[in-house]
Amino acid sequence: MKLSIAVLPGDGVGPEVTREAVRVLRAVSDFCGYEFRFEGAPIGGVASLEFGSPFPTQTRDLCLASSAVLLGAVGGPQFDSLPSDLRPEAGLLALRQELGCFANLRPAIAFESIAGCSPLRPERILGANLLIVRELLGGLYFSEPRALDVAGKCAWNTMRYSEHEIERVARVAFSLAQCRNNKLGSVDKANVLETSRLWRQVVTRIAAEFPQVSLEHALVDSFAMNVITNPTRYDVVLTENLFGDILSDEIAVIVGSLGMLPSASIGGKVDLYEPIHGSAPDIAGKGIANPIGAIASAAMLLRHTAKLHAEADSVEAAIEQVLKSGMRTADLLPPAERARACSTEEMGQRIADSVVEALNSRMAYFAV
Ligand code: NAD
Ligand code: IPM
Ligand code: MN
Repeated sequence: MKLSIAVLPGDGVGPEVTREAVRVLRAVSDFCGYEFRFEGAPIGGVASLEFGSPFPTQTRDLCLASSAVLLGAVGGPQFDSLPSDLRPEAGLLALRQELGCFANLRPAIAFESIAGCSPLRPERILGANLLIVRELLGGLYFSEPRALDVAGKCAWNTMRYSEHEIERVARVAFSLAQCRNNKLGSVDKANVLETSRLWRQVVTRIAAEFPQVSLEHALVDSFAMNVITNPTRYDVVLTENLFGDILSDEIAVIVGSLGMLPSASIGGKVDLYEPIHGSAPDIAGKGIANPIGAIASAAMLLRHTAKLHAEADSVEAAIEQVLKSGMRTADLLPPAERARACSTEEMGQRIADSVVEALNSRMAYFAV
């Protein structure tokens, strides 16, 4: 098994959490005798400052020549005054567009061991296992026209969707629902937006291709309330770009920390894996960020790109095991207990060790 992985650490805590994801992938490849080749490249604010672009050509070329891309995070207040084409976020959007990955999968599981980290009552969240399928290349993020007219004191963006853009992401969501509990929620704002009316029409039409899957439409405002009140009611949730961005951060509250959530962006030339959180400027450089979102993104890479299902399962099991053992980064502890928090590196190392133990006992099991 050979895999070339482009590693784009980016800004803020990006490099800190990505290092741990790479550590875990190395542990898997060393143990199993695979050949994973990692090559780093700049993206985001650091790339704008050093190379005059948040997504330099050498980064693009490396990504397009790789089996998968592993990204940390981009952005930070120090870059907020850059012109819009040099902003770190523009680099991430250009990367997504260049790769063509239109379906962004954002799973969220409420682990029992950290149920206390959520401000929601445990009986509400336990059993929650959601998968947001966020459309990633359309809507307000990319449609034209868009402009900030300072002189005219106004600005505008366009929300545009074609049937094709909706169909392709809907098929991904229905297929995933088929592999889970045959339940799909589609979230829109069809009472107000034409794009959402088209969204609803197309999703309803695609549903006929997946008769086993039960489809429920919901309006985004009431869904935002219902999903946090009763998260176990939902399974796979399909939605457009901006709604998916907002809802996925909201759903992190069910899990207990934004630092826990991974993502995979698929459907294009090369798949992209990144935690859903940002560069966390408030804790960057301190070595205390939670690397689990990045490590779980690496597990998604093993499953979706490398088709190494057992290894992906082992990484996810190791995460759960380490959390069960009581090990916590600061975000998973109440302020009064943060003195016992482990560092980003300690968490990464412990998960890597636990993955090797899991793979070892699996081998022993198959040997008998
Ligand atoms: P953020 O996700 O960076 O942080 C929100 C809060 O969550 C902060 O309190 C932060 O400390 C905490 N947090 C985030 N990740 C954590 C982790 N791994 N461990 C522990 N705590 C964690 O969101 P923000 O502060 O609104 O944005 C900061 C910058 O990040 C902005 O420039 C934004 O554009 C960018 N951003 C980038 C991405 C990305 O690269 N994919 C995603 C979201 C935001
Ligand atoms: C995310 C982020 C990005 C988005 C930003 C940084 C462009 O918030 O991945 O959730 O809005 O998609
Ligand atoms: Mn976001």
